[in-house]
Amino acid sequence: MTELLLIICAYLIGSFATAVWVSKGVFGIDIREHGSGNAGATNTFRVLGPKAGTFVMLVDMLKGVLAVRLSYLIPHDSTEQLVNLQVGLGLAAVVGHIFPIWAGFRGGKGIATLFGMVLAIQPLVALYCVGVFLMILFLTRYVSLSSILASIAFPVLILFVFREEEVYYRIFAIAVAVMVVLTHQKNIMRLISGSESKVPLFKNRKN
Ligand code: G3P
Repeated sequence: MTELLLIICAYLIGSFATAVWVSKGVFGIDIREHGSGNAGATNTFRVLGPKAGTFVMLVDMLKGVLAVRLSYLIPHDSTEQLVNLQVGLGLAAVVGHIFPIWAGFRGGKGIATLFGMVLAIQPLVALYCVGVFLMILFLTRYVSLSSILASIAFPVLILFVFREEEVYYRIFAIAVAVMVVLTHQKNIMRLISGSESKVPLFKNRKN
């Protein structure tokens, strides 16, 4: 019962629709009607600039961290039990971010919150994923492709590099990659058609 209450709290934390509220409250627009239409940090960067984008990214990451930290509010008998709860809480926050109750269930794609969650549970794995993300971003300048490949790297790392034994966590890692591919379906179509927008990492480079 207590676990269920914590899971609901984690979902509500994830539902904190940062991009929507910043865009509406500070800039008077709904971010979901602009740019890619995604209520996330990338689109906030794109439409409202680096300050707003960084703020949204940090808050969305914090949601994942906070959700996982809820696990310490109740006693646990084993590390296994703790990790299982943390995975459930983090996942609830990510679901909240994608389907926020406070913003008509139209949220973002879950990347920043997911990263915050993994950072809180297994920081080293999170750093490896950031490495993959930055490498792909540097090579292609596509945030979406970087997010997708970093998310696919997550279960690969969990299963084959860190050889995680906890079955629940392994299933979760695979589910995350599937979920991220699903939330990026439109991006994948745009990547295939060549119409996905790139981030201008270098001032002199065009497109
Ligand atoms: O984190 C979301 C990112 O991967 C893609 O965002 O706005 O380009 O659809 P966007």
